[in-house]
Amino acid sequence: MKALVTGGAGFIGSHIVDRLLERGDEVVVYDNMSTGLEDFISQHFKNHRFKLIHGDILDLERLTKEMTGIDIVFHLAAHADVRSGFIDHKIDIEQNLMGTINVLEAMKINGVKKIAFSSTSSVYGDATIIPTPENYPFFPTSLYGSSKASAETYIATFCEYYDMTAYIFRFVSWVGERYTHGLVFDFLSKLEKDPTCLHILGDGTQKKSYLYVRDGVDAIFTVIDKAKEKMNIYNLGNDEIIDVTDSAKVIIGEAGYKNVRLTYEGGDKGWIGDNKYVLLDTKKLHSLGWKAGKDTREGLRITTRYLLNNPGVIKKRNGRLAPKS
Ligand SMILES: NC(=O)c1ccc[n+]([C@@H]2O[C@H](COP(=O)([O-])OP(=O)(O)OC[C@H]3O[C@@H](n4cnc5c(N)ncnc54)[C@H](O)[C@@H]3O)[C@@H](O)[C@H]2O)c1
Repeated sequence: MKALVTGGAGFIGSHIVDRLLERGDEVVVYDNMSTGLEDFISQHFKNHRFKLIHGDILDLERLTKEMTGIDIVFHLAAHADVRSGFIDHKIDIEQNLMGTINVLEAMKINGVKKIAFSSTSSVYGDATIIPTPENYPFFPTSLYGSSKASAETYIATFCEYYDMTAYIFRFVSWVGERYTHGLVFDFLSKLEKDPTCLHILGDGTQKKSYLYVRDGVDAIFTVIDKAKEKMNIYNLGNDEIIDVTDSAKVIIGEAGYKNVRLTYEGGDKGWIGDNKYVLLDTKKLHSLGWKAGKDTREGLRITTRYLLNNPGVIKKRNGRLAPKS
């Protein structure tokens, strides 16, 4: 199989690249390096089955050219910062929706028939059914969620028009090696500045689910290998939920900080557009035989250790889509 991975130099994309190469597949990474890091894929530079293209998904001509001979596209390139759509109302539509339409156009022109797409639990918004199943309606509370929901509907239509098959993955937050943005990153960045106090957005009772990256990659390939529909839509998440205060305690404990005072911004959400409870129903995924190998706390601890052992990651990533809190 020859795969093109948009966003293949990013946190999740680079793990997909590792797995494809382990399976014996050929891989083209197509990435504009806006938030991706060469460090995450440089171990493959000498592999003849690997190629890196510095390209933007908004450049349709280039994308179309690089998609020649591809069997499957893993589309991960995105503006992956949920919060900033509140400030910039166009970025999610440009990067996440228009970017996806370009990917679909390039697939159509090249006759590529399979797409795996990284969607999000944010498409459900503040769901009233917890755990939230795949057939819960789209009710996004962020433009990031709206753009991903819209992209899913475009993918569905292209599948219908051009006989494509789609694997849509609605992710909770991922953690693990090469993690570069999100709660653990925010907390460790703050603690580095002031080890005596951690300021938490919201009241700390927000509850979230976290998926360890290698478990998530296992889930993606389980679905691709076993699911048989035209549109294969799967929630990807852990079955546990943890509140933000407990997450903070796990991270502080693993990082070895002592006597940290927790302070709270207040309000029942971390930011405008945040969702207070995120727990997805993963029965459909489990029915294919997938099981998470790491629990939520272990995932948070691994991520904490990874960031502490790789301070360069925080430095390189800061300034490029860095958390604004
Ligand atoms: N990390 C999570 O917890 C999470 C949760 C839900 C959904 N997702 C989705 O998973 C995907 C991967 O997320 P991630 O956490 O690995 O993010 P990331 O920022 O680490 O990776 C995104 C990659 O896409 C590249 N990119 C961005 N815009 C591009 C463009 N216009 N053209 C080409 N390349 C571009 C970046 O350089 C980067 O390598 C995203 O689509 C994101 O929305 C992630």
